[in-house]
Amino acid sequence: MVRVITYGTYDLLHYGHINLLKRAKALGDYLIVALSTDEFNKNMKNKVCVQNFQERKTILESLRYVDLVIPENNWEQKISDIQLYHVDIFCMGSDWNNKFDFLKDYCKVIYFPRTDGISTTQRKGEVIQMFKTSNV
Ligand code: CTP
Repeated sequence: MVRVITYGTYDLLHYGHINLLKRAKALGDYLIVALSTDEFNKNMKNKVCVQNFQERKTILESLRYVDLVIPENNWEQKISDIQLYHVDIFCMGSDWNNKFDFLKDYCKVIYFPRTDGISTTQRKGEVIQMFKTSNV
């Protein structure tokens, strides 16, 4: 059983997220997503989510690629998560290139190329623009 872990916010789930999760699952047999909590997003990542933690968790849990969703509460938990869940492979998108190389002492570390042309931030901007330019 090869266990894979990845971390993220996954607000307004989009096809860039799906590509990442599909590739992550293809690395092994069991995919764990450590999902940033609302507090962690707000206080440490400076992100305010449209969907709250429970909504984002419910959506991720319904995906065929995802086996388990756990909370990401802080930057420091990765080593203990890897040990606790017997993780073999840690992976992230390339916006995090080299940032987590210190985890190579504990498991394999892989960065996937980001999907071009899509992000949650971009989607939020597009929605705001749509409302500004329409008379809704
Ligand atoms: N990701 C990706 N391709 C994209 C967007 C995200 O591969 N186009 C990956 C990220 O690299 C990360 C995971 O999806 O490993 C979760 O990213 P997240 O930060 O939740 O999504 P973003 O769309 O990047 O959100 P934001 O715009 O708020 O930063």
